[in-house]
Amino acid sequence: MSKIGIDIEKAKQILQQGGLVAIPTETVYGLAANGLDKNAVLKIFEAKNRPHFDPLIIHTNSIEKIKLWVNDFPEWAQQLADVFWPGPLTLLLPKKTIVPDLVTSGLPNVAVRIPNHKLTLQLLESLDFPLAAPSANPFGYVSPTTAQHVAAQLQNQVDYILDGGTCDVGIESTIVGFENNCITVYRLGGLAVEDIEQVVGKVNVQVNQSSNPTAPGMLKSHYAPTKPLFIGDVADFIKNNRSKKIGIISFYKDFDVEKSHSKTLSPTHDLKEAAHNLFAAIRDLDASDVEVIIAEKFPDNFLGRAINDRLQRAAAK
Ligand code: TXA
Ligand code: MG
Repeated sequence: MSKIGIDIEKAKQILQQGGLVAIPTETVYGLAANGLDKNAVLKIFEAKNRPHFDPLIIHTNSIEKIKLWVNDFPEWAQQLADVFWPGPLTLLLPKKTIVPDLVTSGLPNVAVRIPNHKLTLQLLESLDFPLAAPSANPFGYVSPTTAQHVAAQLQNQVDYILDGGTCDVGIESTIVGFENNCITVYRLGGLAVEDIEQVVGKVNVQVNQSSNPTAPGMLKSHYAPTKPLFIGDVADFIKNNRSKKIGIISFYKDFDVEKSHSKTLSPTHDLKEAAHNLFAAIRDLDASDVEVIIAEKFPDNFLGRAINDRLQRAAAK
């Protein structure tokens, strides 16, 4: 029987039995298991080769359910949830003991999100537990935005891949926490800081660039292709590296290299479209015969900030 399909009932049964299912979301594909079952969650870490100090996001379909698993749902969380859920926003909230410490890497807060994808929302509605799900890629590699990306790397590690087509947003959710009476963005993502500020006013942005494995969360090198990736002036790079096969990631400009080696993420200058296309472009170039990838720096606003964040981590070694 095929491992890829749209059989929600099958996905549900596997998850109820403690298995692993890759699920589509509007951001990227997730590698899901019962988030209240420690043994099932353990399988996620093993399948991804993910260190236990990197905590997981739990996904569900309603705030009523979330309140079964967190001790507090502050007013700010409610305001953001009202506007942006279901959507590319993850909130850090104090966990109840029913959530295994393995999910949060021992931290007091659990990351929660209601994703915006029809198939996955149907699945979540049918479950009485949340789905713990990191992005469905081997640890450190680029996140998958199609079922085929998942299959290419984790086919043997998952029991089933729910195929929801290409992810709309294309980069991971924005992570927001509420500590010391302020709102802090801990990971830039598919929901722009500017959009959050429209609802709750000015927020802090504190995006760690840690290479220290004892610091949970945002590792400096992540989302990385196997080919070297640089960020800079593309025209200069081409001029100075005539002998190399170069792959290019640009916002809207075309450059004079082999067509399949030039990834123009949005000819119409649309940052949402660029984010949507970013990870597939990195994967394509990584799988091609280019020796090195050069990416432009994107405008540092709206989703351009998250795109720059991902490119910087992809470039860090
Ligand atoms: O869009 C997304 O968020 C996707 C889809 C599948 O929902 N998921 C995703 O998960 O990107 P993952 O595991 O690749 O990234 C989760 C990140 C962790 O690396 C960490 O930075 C942060 O979320 N995180 C999770 N739980 C946390 C916690 N309790 N405290 C602080 N940060 C946390
Ligand atoms: Mg990830």
